[in-house]
Amino acid sequence: MAKLALRYVCQQCGAAAPKWGGRCESCGAWNSLVEEIAREAPPLGKARRAASAKKIAFTPLESSAPAPERLETGIAEFDRVCGGGLVRGSAVLIAGDPGIGKSTLLLQVAASLSSRARAAYVSGEEAVEQVRLRAGRLDLSRAPVQLAAATDIAAIIAALDVADGPEVVVIDSIQTMYLDGLESAPGTVAQVRACASEIIRLAKRRGMTVLLVGHVTKEGMIAGPRVLEHMVDTVLYFEGERGHQFRILRAVKNRFGPTDEIGVFAMTDGGLQQVANPSELFLAQRPENATGASVFAGIEGTRPLLVEIQALVAPSPLGSPRRAVVGWDSARLAMVLAVLEARCGLAFAAQDVYLNVAGGLRITEPAADLAVAAALVSSRLDAPVPPDTVVFGEIGLAGEVRAVSQTEARLKEAAKLGFARALTPPAKDAAPKRAGPPEIREIGHLLDLVDVLSGGGHSRGAGKFSATKTGDRRH
Ligand code: TYD
Ligand code: MG
Repeated sequence: MAKLALRYVCQQCGAAAPKWGGRCESCGAWNSLVEEIAREAPPLGKARRAASAKKIAFTPLESSAPAPERLETGIAEFDRVCGGGLVRGSAVLIAGDPGIGKSTLLLQVAASLSSRARAAYVSGEEAVEQVRLRAGRLDLSRAPVQLAAATDIAAIIAALDVADGPEVVVIDSIQTMYLDGLESAPGTVAQVRACASEIIRLAKRRGMTVLLVGHVTKEGMIAGPRVLEHMVDTVLYFEGERGHQFRILRAVKNRFGPTDEIGVFAMTDGGLQQVANPSELFLAQRPENATGASVFAGIEGTRPLLVEIQALVAPSPLGSPRRAVVGWDSARLAMVLAVLEARCGLAFAAQDVYLNVAGGLRITEPAADLAVAAALVSSRLDAPVPPDTVVFGEIGLAGEVRAVSQTEARLKEAAKLGFARALTPPAKDAAPKRAGPPEIREIGHLLDLVDVLSGGGHSRGAGKFSATKTGDRRH
């Protein structure tokens, strides 16, 4: 018989300790010890192998089964992020900070699909009346969603596992659920994992789709959705800056579709509204002719997205100047600053630098480098980026600007929103000539960017905007 014992395993290095501690004795990582039940299975000896007569069957890769059946929720932004709707029998984790709007989103999703499929919403955080109140506020009271407030996962499963049970169920949130018989408190890794695995097993067996809500906490990621990421089929992050209206739903893992797809919503008094054309919204309050701002033509998933990047460069009263970044990677900012300093002679060492991606979006594309550099140089030289101009391109350490993917899609979106010009990486020689707006100014090196922003008088006589190729110039 297997022995049962409790031990604490470091999630960084795998060392086991008999007692919990704040720091792993073996590798020194903080807060990495997690309770586990050590079950010592006997080794898989000859006798045991012989005893288990069961064998798995191998099959070829080719399948005759059709593509998985999808259930459209009717909320297009949500469906897109899932890869075209919910797959039957799949488990989807929706993770995000508390208060970002997960419950609101899933109530709207459940209500929207309830006209097509049987939907249930189980709340472990709010009482039935509270959820009803919210449904009333969202004008969804009449949607045929089965509602329950419960936290006992065994009881929930018993209620779901009936003839004519729901086809889609929302569990809000997985951290409030508990499995009787497990010593740990709700929200601990052991409970979260056990509850999720029970409900996911039921989902697979019944062909029911389960939407799990998971809170991410700033430091307590461990007991949060992270432990669930490999158990579920799809992981969606719901993010946004507090105080901003925009909410971005982002697929970070999807067994049934592409990742990096985003859905854009705006949180309003009437709940979450879909934003079909996010570029327009992200650029809505753009000041005219301000210095320190550029418009980045980005790609999120399969969609082009224009967003304003703002920089403020000001003399610093501090010994070590401030670098503050919202919506972009601070290491990447440090690199762009260093390249501007080393290759273009623009000093930032005594300057505070603030960088902000407007609207609360988070950009991860390297293609944003050039747009960030444009905003920084514009603020540093107090010269606006030419109006109606979009910018994109990756920067190398030599100051060269490199080509990025999906140039055409970026330019098309810019043209659609009335942008007349674009600062882009040099086109490959074989690339076909484009016709129509925006007018392209190729930036081969960061010095060319400084040229454009300072009106061409900086180092060489290229006009502010001419379609000529700038050619190569390296240091
Ligand atoms: P909620 O869905 O409860 O967040 P979560 O489940 O992620 O913790 O949403 C919380 C916030 O959303 C709350 O601060 C109020 C706001 N909100 C609106 O602005 N409009 C609305 O219609 C609703 C329902 C909520
Ligand atoms: Mg909630």
